[in-house]
Amino acid sequence: MKQGKSGIAKPLTTNKHLIRWVEKMAELTQPARIHWVDGSQQEYDWLCDELVAVGTFIRLNQEKWPGCFYARSDPRDVARVEDRTFICSFSKDNAGPTNNWVEPYEMRKKLKELFNGCMRGRTMYVLAFSMGPVGSPMSRIGVELTDSPYVVVNMRIMTRIGLPVLAEIDRGAVRVVPCMHSVGAPLAPGQKDVPWPCNDAKYIVHFPEAREIWSYGSGYGGNALLGKKCFALRIASNIARDEGWMAEHMLIVGVESPQGEKTYVAAAFPSACGKTNLAMLVPPKVLGDWKVTTVGDDIAWIKPDANGQLRAINPEAGFFGVAPGTSEKTNPNAMAALSRNTIFTNVALTADGGVWWEGMTDEPPTECEDWRGNRWTPEIQKQTGAKAAHPNGRFTAPARQCPSIDAAWEDPAGVPIGAFVFGGRRSTTMPLVYQAFNWSAGVYMGATMGSETTAAASGAVGMMRRDPMAMLPFCGYHMGDYFRHWIKMQRSLSSTPRIFYVNWFRKSEDGKFLWPGFSENMRVLKWIVDRVHGRAQGKETPIGWTPYYEDMEWAGLDISRAQFDQMQEVNRAAWRKELIGHEELFIDVHDHLPPEMIYERELLICRM
Ligand code: GTP
Ligand code: SPV
Ligand code: MN
Repeated sequence: MKQGKSGIAKPLTTNKHLIRWVEKMAELTQPARIHWVDGSQQEYDWLCDELVAVGTFIRLNQEKWPGCFYARSDPRDVARVEDRTFICSFSKDNAGPTNNWVEPYEMRKKLKELFNGCMRGRTMYVLAFSMGPVGSPMSRIGVELTDSPYVVVNMRIMTRIGLPVLAEIDRGAVRVVPCMHSVGAPLAPGQKDVPWPCNDAKYIVHFPEAREIWSYGSGYGGNALLGKKCFALRIASNIARDEGWMAEHMLIVGVESPQGEKTYVAAAFPSACGKTNLAMLVPPKVLGDWKVTTVGDDIAWIKPDANGQLRAINPEAGFFGVAPGTSEKTNPNAMAALSRNTIFTNVALTADGGVWWEGMTDEPPTECEDWRGNRWTPEIQKQTGAKAAHPNGRFTAPARQCPSIDAAWEDPAGVPIGAFVFGGRRSTTMPLVYQAFNWSAGVYMGATMGSETTAAASGAVGMMRRDPMAMLPFCGYHMGDYFRHWIKMQRSLSSTPRIFYVNWFRKSEDGKFLWPGFSENMRVLKWIVDRVHGRAQGKETPIGWTPYYEDMEWAGLDISRAQFDQMQEVNRAAWRKELIGHEELFIDVHDHLPPEMIYERELLICRM
């Protein structure tokens, strides 16, 4: 495809509906140009050059970081904005008490105002993308109209885009989810642009019945890469409920035993609570020939096959991972994946044109530029507390570059799921690992999950909140109905995956993590997989089955029986409080709560 200075203006589709919609939206937003994204490497390179020219991107040292770019966002646009995220279903009741709801007609009026002329002076990119491998029966297609070239290049890593997807649309076999996105910063004639245009007014809006997304004011992550949280979770959870499958905030990992037996595990942890790390785990050598492979690190679409076996695909093609804490020690697979062709946002820039973040190396650089562009030294850090990288600084890296990527990660049929794992960031109460007695007890376990908040969303950090199945910010309909959907799924399954709970984050009185985490999590995964195959013992406790000390593999790790007991302790006084916390959530969603949740709570109280 020939690449003129102003890109590809001619529609790359024969689909009349798509062309008409693009024309209509251009009339509304009044961009200076329209560019149909073909998804080619030349186009990507050209867009990156343009981003360098306007100062959004800095090209990193190409010897050390080949194909890599560096971006700093506006400091007011650094994370998802949950209080500006809306589910505009016809009825308020359908959105439920855990979502912000605005009457759809009202919201459409507001959006018309906001989008009126909002792309003036900018290019509107027509970005066709597929969530899931192009052509898989489990995949879904969207078209994002965006005025952000940063979004286009990130989406090229995170999803499959361009001509192959447009060809699917031309075949006419698929329903397209329309996704409108604007940074909300029109340019007057002659006005100089800023490196990171955005708007203080932010609206992340979903119309579940129309399957439509409108996002305004932000260029960051889940607010702007609309295939991710907006489509693959909030809209897809609605589609999945209607069609009998599941759209979950879960990593998917393959665990292969020394005997070559492969078990796929899907795990739901809230944002910045360890999905990417678990998805790319490197088993400690002392445990023998266990292998862990990565299918996905954030989102799973899961559907029963003709035999009633749940199978999962990763709808994404890249990782939008938390940078701080990522290192050769904690996650060498992520380090390899991000070593080339990666976009870094809101981390630190080193003097030799590289990147750095807290936790990347033991020794910080003597001097660098922090995520705001200010001079940073360890001394300045000591005096002011300023961090070199923003805690939600991220890398956008192609999944295929990950050394642990699973051979079946793009299998259109998905991989069979043997176990579900739930887990939150809890400094108290929750044990390292336990197993639910059965499906409905497991659904209860996921539904009542709690976690301390992180920097992945704007707002206070470290506040304990209920985050059912790690979906509180992502479930596109009533949470009570979502629990019902989980309960109902059992009926379409010939055998249900076993359900487990893990907590890597329990702390001692003096505030230290009790469990070493990261690669050592393999020991917990091993018990989980052994349980799935009926090999390991479990001790019955009021909350579920827990491993005996003897059931865990301890070779090469110095954890005493007393330490393990401390990590696994089910403290009755703490659980009493916990149960009251469950009750608070249940009161909120009461009129849609499936009766199974009430029964499970009663059983739990009886056993306590
Ligand atoms: P999202 O991309 O926001 O959905 O996050 P995520 O769930 O993929 O979280 P990620 O794996 O990026 O981890 C987030 C933070 O948790 C990082 O700072 C990690 O260093 C830390 N972390 C991950 N696993 C562990 C663990 O086993 N133990 C401890 N203590 N910290 C961990
Ligand atoms: C999360 O917050 O769960 C993320 C990052 O995975 S974002 O894409 O910004 O949603
Ligand atoms: Mn996430």
